[in-house]
This record gives sequence, structure tokens and C-alpha cells, in this order.
Amino acid sequence: MRVALATCRVLPEPDPDQRPLLDALAALGVDAFLLPWDEPEACAGLEADLCVVRSTWNYYRDRAAYLAWAEATSARCRLENPLAVLRWNTHKSYLRVLAERGVRVVPTRFLARDARASLRELQAELGPELVVKPTVSASSYRTRRFSRAELAEGEAFLAELLAEREVMVQPYVRSLETHGERALVWIAGELGHGVRKRPRFHGGDEAVVPVPVSDEERRFAEAVLATVEEELLYARVDVARAEDGELMVMELELAEPSLFLLQHPPALARFAAAIRDRALAARRAGG
Ligand SMILES: Nc1ncnc2c1ncn2[C@@H]1O[C@H](COP(=O)(O)OP(=O)(O)O)[C@@H](O)[C@H]1O
Ligand SMILES: [Mg+2]
Repeated sequence: MRVALATCRVLPEPDPDQRPLLDALAALGVDAFLLPWDEPEACAGLEADLCVVRSTWNYYRDRAAYLAWAEATSARCRLENPLAVLRWNTHKSYLRVLAERGVRVVPTRFLARDARASLRELQAELGPELVVKPTVSASSYRTRRFSRAELAEGEAFLAELLAEREVMVQPYVRSLETHGERALVWIAGELGHGVRKRPRFHGGDEAVVPVPVSDEERRFAEAVLATVEEELLYARVDVARAEDGELMVMELELAEPSLFLLQHPPALARFAAAIRDRALAARRAGG
């Protein structure tokens, strides 16, 4: 069985999941290799039973090219998560869809490119401190927080960002400093482990510590995932506490989430086995 793990030519930051996953797959007899999505020759010659999207972390720089790659790859072999999921999940307007499906999400105002908007007006709707970020983004790219005192700077940043792209504005979620943002990791049907993430804005590093998943978090994450129709291989539900203490979705990561496998060896074993099983099923279906 041949399994491609999709990454990118130059990782913006190291991927701690990569080596352990390659090793765990090799131990199961799977011929697993890295496939940089932004290397056309490697992709054109791809021969694999399955391609698992992992650290394609620069996709937000050219989402159209990325989705074209995903479509071409999906025509060559089984792609996980599936193409339709990647299309939907690489634009954060999916938060609106989740809200329509009854999931509580962080309040978000979406602004079209070149829209006229002012943070001062958005404060009335969202709160005194705001976060401004692109609708297509990862690794906190161009994600900035503006306090009440930084409004003038915030207006300038918002105008600059709107001139280039679609933007979203959210209230600054204060509980991320105390309770923290929790990433709940789901692999092949099981919500196994969680980590707490340190707050991170543009230019910052990712720092995580393992945390137990409470029953409440588990129920919440499972309810979120139940709204997704497509069959998934992996998912990560990033949650925060709202002012009233209830859980809300910060992000539903279905495209290329870190799964923090080093923090939880059983998840690594589960993931590797699920990949092998799906590659095997794809091979049988194909031949
Ligand atoms: N509304 C918000 N309130 C507080 N912190 C935020 C908010 N939005 C983003 N952040 C911080 O920025 C980080 C990145 O934003 P996020 O929406 O998770 O996008 P991505 O992970 O795709 O870059 C979050 O992990 C969090 O630390
Ligand atoms: Mg995030």
C-alpha cells in the first residue's frame, strides 16, 4: 500500500506529527511518503492508494491553487479528508454554516473584500476589544487583536486587509487567557485527546499542553461533528468558553490540523491503523 502524506515544500513551522506518523505507518507495512502539494512534478507523478492531507500549511496563500491540487489528487487516489470537506473548511465562512446548523460559534462578522467597515461601529455589535483576521488563514496569519485604546491602529489594519481580501471580525475572547483554547482531537470515530493552546497572534509560535477532555467537551465536540455529513478520517474541534461559561467553537479544523499525536501515543496508533485500513479499502475498490 502506498500512502502520501500531503505537506508543503517549505513548512512555515515544524510538524511534530510528521516523523511519528511516518514511522508508525512503516511499522504497519505501509509505504508512506511525503508529498508537497506545491511541487507540481511530484503531484503529477503521484501513484498512491490514499493521500492524507497533513501539513499543507501554506495553502491560505493561494487557496484556488490548493483546491485545484486537491481536485487533481482526488482524481488520482482516495483523498482524506475528502475534497468536498477541504473546499468547505478552507474558508472560515463554515462558521456561519455551523451556526445555521445550531452550533454555538464565536460571534463573527464577515466582511467582503473592499467592504466599508469601521471597528468603532463593530464594537457596538461585538464588544470593546476585537480580533481582525482573514477568512482564509492558518497559523495566525495576519490575525491581530485590538484593545479599545488601539482602535486607530485597528481601523488602519482593517482597511489594509479589506483592500486585499475578505476579512472577519470577532470579539476578543478573554477566556483564552485563563481557561485557554482547547483543541479536541477526533480520529476515525473517536474523540481521544485534547490539548490546551497558548494564545497566539500574528508572528507567534504554537505552544500546547495535554489536557483531559471533560464529558461536557466531548458531548459538545461530538454534536459539532454530527452536523458534518461527509465521512471524515480526522477532525479537530477548537473550543473556548464564552462569557456565560458555555462552550463555543473557535474553529472546526478539517483540512490540515495538527493532531498532537506526540502528546497522545494511542491516537498515533489509531490514526496509523485507520490510514492503513482506508488505503487497503481504496486499493481493493480500485483494483
Ligand atoms: N476572537 C478571538 N479571541 C481571542 N483570541 C483569538 C480570537 N481569534 C483568534 N485568536 C487567537 O489567534 C489564534 C489563531 O486564530 P484562529 O481563528 O484559530 O485561526 P488559525 O488557527 O487558522 O490561524 C487563536 O488560536 C487564538 O490564540
Ligand atoms: Mg486556530
